[in-house]
Amino acid sequence: MFSGWLVAALGLTMTRRSCSSLSVPDIAAYFGTKTRYEEVNPHLLRDVLTVNASVLRPPATERCVPVHLTAVIRHGSRYPTVKNIRRIQRLSELVRREASGSPGGSGGSGGAAGAADWLQDVQSRWEMWYTEDMDGQLVLKGREDLRQLAARLSLLFPSLLTEENEMSISLRSSSKHRCVSSAEAFQEGLQLHWRHSDVQYRHLVDDKLMRFFERCRGYVEGVEKNRTALLEVHKFKHGPEMERVKRKVAGRLGLHQHHLTADLVEAAFFLCSYELSIKSLHSSWCFLFDEDDAKVLEYKSDLKQYWKRFHGYMISSLSSCPLFHHIFRTLDKAGRPRRSTDAPPEPASILIGHAETLLPLLSLLGLYKDQTPPTADNYHTQHGRSFRSGLIVPYAANLLFVLYDCQRGPRLQLLVNESPVRFPGLETEDAPLYRDVRAAYRHLLDGCDFQRECEGTSVGGRGPNIEL
Ligand SMILES: *[C@@H]1O[C@H](CO)[C@@H](O)[C@H](O)[C@H]1NC(C)=O
Ligand SMILES: *[C@@H]1O[C@H](CO)[C@@H](O)[C@H](O)[C@H]1NC(C)=O
Repeated sequence: MFSGWLVAALGLTMTRRSCSSLSVPDIAAYFGTKTRYEEVNPHLLRDVLTVNASVLRPPATERCVPVHLTAVIRHGSRYPTVKNIRRIQRLSELVRREASGSPGGSGGSGGAAGAADWLQDVQSRWEMWYTEDMDGQLVLKGREDLRQLAARLSLLFPSLLTEENEMSISLRSSSKHRCVSSAEAFQEGLQLHWRHSDVQYRHLVDDKLMRFFERCRGYVEGVEKNRTALLEVHKFKHGPEMERVKRKVAGRLGLHQHHLTADLVEAAFFLCSYELSIKSLHSSWCFLFDEDDAKVLEYKSDLKQYWKRFHGYMISSLSSCPLFHHIFRTLDKAGRPRRSTDAPPEPASILIGHAETLLPLLSLLGLYKDQTPPTADNYHTQHGRSFRSGLIVPYAANLLFVLYDCQRGPRLQLLVNESPVRFPGLETEDAPLYRDVRAAYRHLLDGCDFQRECEGTSVGGRGPNIEL
């Protein structure tokens, strides 16, 4: 519980941001899972509390009312993890020691006035300010991400996320520090919206639900710890596209190419992303990359997410069965016919986790499945792919299940990052009848057994998922 002064302090950060003069690197939408939520919804840069109720689209003729919201939410902006902090350290030492700049070499992005000093800036003015104890923790901007999301969802669902409903809204979080902090921030956002003077936290930590991936042996052994399973990523990392980016970056820094590894190039790219997402800063490190370089580095991250967490292997999506069943059990209960004397349904279920939580679930639901999987060799035909991790799982990414009570029965709508997304196989409607959604996922509702899929040795569960 907090006293009033803190709420007042939090209130300050909730004020609407006015038009910002910040210049944003033109590569900011290519940061994969390190992308800011604002790149996906740029209107939030003008007003963080913008909501457009027209995203809720039950049939106008059926007089529907929302009766339940399940929101699966990724934590907000965070510090780099130790692994990346060490890489950034190595990079900054190397650049300080060895870089000389290319003769007349200008930066990648921008290049013109204002960018001229970028090399001197990264070499002598930029200070290594990341320390290992920051290890992946939520940053202040990340708290704001979640507070603001909570406020927008309250505006979008004024009958569900209400003060009267407070005690019947369930909140669960992964045990990781950045998620627990995000769960707190979400509650701050709700309670500030309700103008509470004290903030009270009442979330539960539930790793079985939100960190299922680390408990699924078939997944951990078959994919996560299996170098063969991520072959495409390793091939691309040392393939011609990445080599070209490495050459260009080495040239811009005036470094011998063999001093620079793919990991260090990536560290510089991430550094640009961190300075933007943490400090809202257009860092000089960003000038090392042009848009073509950024697309290649984005593809490298997407390959990793695809083969490690997404449609690449069935077992990755199946590891999310416990979360899938939890969500549908909640929806079943909320959609059940009730007598007026029955207790009202749970208005909302807020589930806070990771990109690693959302991706397998989205994949299990059959979303963002392109005809041709991304591989090390087909970069040039993948420009129009639907799987771009930065658009799907940026910081504070969210998957919303909205259940409506309608004349013909309950209906369900999906939103990803506050935009409508249609169920595969039910593409004619934004909010199909709930019973049709259940029929479409019948095989999962009747199966998708975590024990069997994750501990069992059933063939097929681990193989590449090549059926379309
Ligand atoms: C809301 O979104 C709809 C499209 O979904 C658009 O036509 C409309 O202009 C938007 N309204 C506002 C106020 O932005
Ligand atoms: C590792 O992945 C490869 C490729 O999917 C697969 O053939 C192999 O069986 C996996 N190894 C283990 C130990 O699961």
